[in-house]
Amino acid sequence: MAVARNKNAVSKSVRKSVSKKAVARKPAAKNASIAKPAKKTSNPLGLEKKAPGQFDTLQEIALAAHRKLPAPVWDHLMGGADSEMTVRRNRAGLDALALRQRVLVDVRNIDLSTTLLGQKLAFPVFPAPVGGFLGKVHAEGGPAVARAAVSRGTTAFIATAAKPSLEAAQQAVKQKLIFQLYVRGDRTWIEGILDRVRKAEYGALCVTVDRNFYGRRERDIVSGLPVKEGFGDQSYQASLNWKDLVWMKERVGLPLIAKGIATAEDAVLAVEHGADVVYVSNHGGRQLDHAQGSIEVLAEVVKAVAGRAEVLADGGVQRGTDVVKMLCLGASAVGVGKLLGLALSAGGEAGVARMLELMELEVRTVMGLMGVTSIKQLGPQWLRAVPVLGTPSPVSAYPLLEEAVRRSTR
Ligand SMILES: Cc1cc2nc3c(=O)[nH]c(=O)nc-3n(C[C@H](O)[C@H](O)[C@H](O)COP(=O)(O)O)c2cc1C
Repeated sequence: MAVARNKNAVSKSVRKSVSKKAVARKPAAKNASIAKPAKKTSNPLGLEKKAPGQFDTLQEIALAAHRKLPAPVWDHLMGGADSEMTVRRNRAGLDALALRQRVLVDVRNIDLSTTLLGQKLAFPVFPAPVGGFLGKVHAEGGPAVARAAVSRGTTAFIATAAKPSLEAAQQAVKQKLIFQLYVRGDRTWIEGILDRVRKAEYGALCVTVDRNFYGRRERDIVSGLPVKEGFGDQSYQASLNWKDLVWMKERVGLPLIAKGIATAEDAVLAVEHGADVVYVSNHGGRQLDHAQGSIEVLAEVVKAVAGRAEVLADGGVQRGTDVVKMLCLGASAVGVGKLLGLALSAGGEAGVARMLELMELEVRTVMGLMGVTSIKQLGPQWLRAVPVLGTPSPVSAYPLLEEAVRRSTR
């Protein structure tokens, strides 16, 4: 069966630009080690027959996105900074841990619930902020992600660049969401945004602190994909310091989440400067290259925070097992970035809701097989260091996708 590439999955402006600049530039796609879109081939998996809400596995969602997205957009989503070592380390760090299991435990009832800033989440996974990307694949990306997350009983981080507006995402749901701030202007610009965030009645402010410089995402540079970030005056964001964080919290009057913490030292400073939540992240490997994998720094951050704040984490999470490993090391909930982008590309709001449902199913299955009935029982005692098998990459958690990517880059 011919593969129908759904043009609606990609916004008009990106399509135009991609078709003019990037797709036409064949060498760019050749340079990318992650796929160009699959050629029209037979579809033994029958993915086109499935509505987004009917995907049975996470890898079907990823495969459907791979089929739909033009190569530069796929590369923008799945790629990282420079040599992409941090992207690989996120995965390698997760793969370097095995789970222990206990048997003959009554696991009929497993409680997956957790809390974030006093709000109960039905299960410990949430959409991380993926700002501008939402608008590239969905005209109403912000509200779609908000509705999907709330319908599954979790929360969502809405990024500064989310389309159509920060207000539209919060208005789409009754539950208070979390607004994520990228500093892209000076203090007056920030004041304007923070006042809008307060007026829109968000529940918390997340400030991303690992972006004083823009990471150089070479796939985007080579393909010519129009990505707004990376241009313009960076001097104000480069000057940000801990006092600015205190000021932002005071100005907005909401609980503060510091996203992008990767050391014990900064975890301590974040708490001392008023962070209610310390969010361990390396931006999915899109900022500092050759950083440690997120899961590799999680334990030291949790130790440094010492219960004075909540801890969230993301980075390389593609499976329920990844979520459970991060919970074992002290995260109270875990974000998904690339997987969110894949789900939105594959099936819009329904795709995101189904991705979260499948994540929940995977987490429940993993905990049941480990003989664990509540998140509170998880801890480092469930993990063992093991050699990494295979080659960790953003697609290596999904063997069928890994094969599809390999075939389409030949
Ligand atoms: C396409 C894309 C766009 C992103 N945009 C933002 C953003 O606007 N703000 C932010 O704080 N982080 C952003 N991130 C980082 C994510 O919030 C998250 O930290 C990261 O994706 C987690 O790693 P993972 O992609 O391996 O799940 C983005 C990530 C991706 C993949």
